[in-house]
Amino acid sequence: MDEATVNDAASGKASAGRPRVVLGVSGGIAAYKACELLRRLTESGHDVRVVPTASALNFVGAATWSALSGHPVSTEVWDDVHEVPHVRIGQQADLVVVAPATADTLAKAAHGLADDLLTNTLLTARCPVVFAPAMHTEMWEHPATRENVATLRRRGALVIEPASGRLTGVDTGKGRLPEPAEIFEVCRRVLARGADAAVADLAGRHVVVSAGGTREPLDPVRYLGNRSSGKQGYALAAVAAARGARVTLIEANTGLPDPAGVDVVRVGTALQLREAVLKAAADADAVVMAAAVADFRPAEYASGKIKKKDGQEPAPVALVRNPDILAEISADRAHPGQVVVGFAAETDDVLANGREKLRRKGCDLLVVNEVGERKTFGSEQNEAVVLTADGGETPVPYGPKEALAEIVWDLVAPQLG
Ligand SMILES: Cc1cc2nc3c(=O)[nH]c(=O)nc-3n(C[C@H](O)[C@H](O)[C@H](O)COP(=O)(O)O)c2cc1C
Repeated sequence: MDEATVNDAASGKASAGRPRVVLGVSGGIAAYKACELLRRLTESGHDVRVVPTASALNFVGAATWSALSGHPVSTEVWDDVHEVPHVRIGQQADLVVVAPATADTLAKAAHGLADDLLTNTLLTARCPVVFAPAMHTEMWEHPATRENVATLRRRGALVIEPASGRLTGVDTGKGRLPEPAEIFEVCRRVLARGADAAVADLAGRHVVVSAGGTREPLDPVRYLGNRSSGKQGYALAAVAAARGARVTLIEANTGLPDPAGVDVVRVGTALQLREAVLKAAADADAVVMAAAVADFRPAEYASGKIKKKDGQEPAPVALVRNPDILAEISADRAHPGQVVVGFAAETDDVLANGREKLRRKGCDLLVVNEVGERKTFGSEQNEAVVLTADGGETPVPYGPKEALAEIVWDLVAPQLG
């Protein structure tokens, strides 16, 4: 954190037009990561009020929260009583995010307890509420915590799935706080959706998204690949998570950071991607195939590097077809209500080819975009038409890949059985 940032935050009283965010911090070892989330929120123009629990102050002191947010900090309802903070802070918020959310704070929120400033604030807030839990795997998996999380989700709160990785001590497992940058992205998306975000319309749904481009190995150092960056698939996964879905993202060769709350499965080839998608799709409500899956792979894999030989032309590379995963998923659905979405990258006759592909693959929606040297691949922007099996056509103007992702989920959500 640089000095300018601290001064900027310190001088900033709630100015008109700045979204008001309450950052609840409870007493987990990951409390220090909330400083980074706070910095990102204030730097991007939010007016942030930090409400730590008494336990949280054992990890990061009130002076840090106060200096970084520019607001006084208290844990109890008995400070500045004339301003009735136990009611006012929640009422005025545009978003409440609790990061980290301990097992204890989740339990209190699920049961409506109100014995400190944070739990009072959670009861008075009428804005979207995001919990980013962090705890040991045993605590996360305990039936009490599972039920508390289910209760909060049923009431419309967005409870982000913890990440897997290193926990407090030497142990690893599920329960790690997602990276602050990714929690910030969730907050940004939820705020952008405004009042609608109070209802996480994909809550209780499991969605599978594939992203990236497969690589088909020729030998240990070479492969046949494509130019897909995976950014559109990542946007779809991140937006679905921000709308409350349980998301399995099957990614091929993207190198992109894991979005918060998303289970990421890494694959390399088309055959590996097929296996992972079929497995995840078994209990999925929707499958979105945004990955660029190679149509062909080398018929032979050379176990040693293929060498140049003096005076000899290289041997031709024989190819074999890869399975058509989109057609297979569409034809053989895990259950009748499962919605399947495909992507088509076309270079010409975009709409006619898209319609034909939608019919041939048998999916419910097809996102068709025109690709070329400077279009779509690797870009942050996209322009597309979403075709539906009933003849519908939704043009999506040139804009962020995230905007296209919102539209895809807007079209998928009403079709979910
Ligand atoms: C070193 C240490 C680390 C802790 N980390 C966590 C944690 O990551 N998640 C959690 O749920 N509880 C954790 N706890 C336990 C909580 O601090 C404890 O349940 C406390 O009552 C939570 O209070 P709060 O929810 O009001 O903040 C930790 C405790 C200690 C001493």
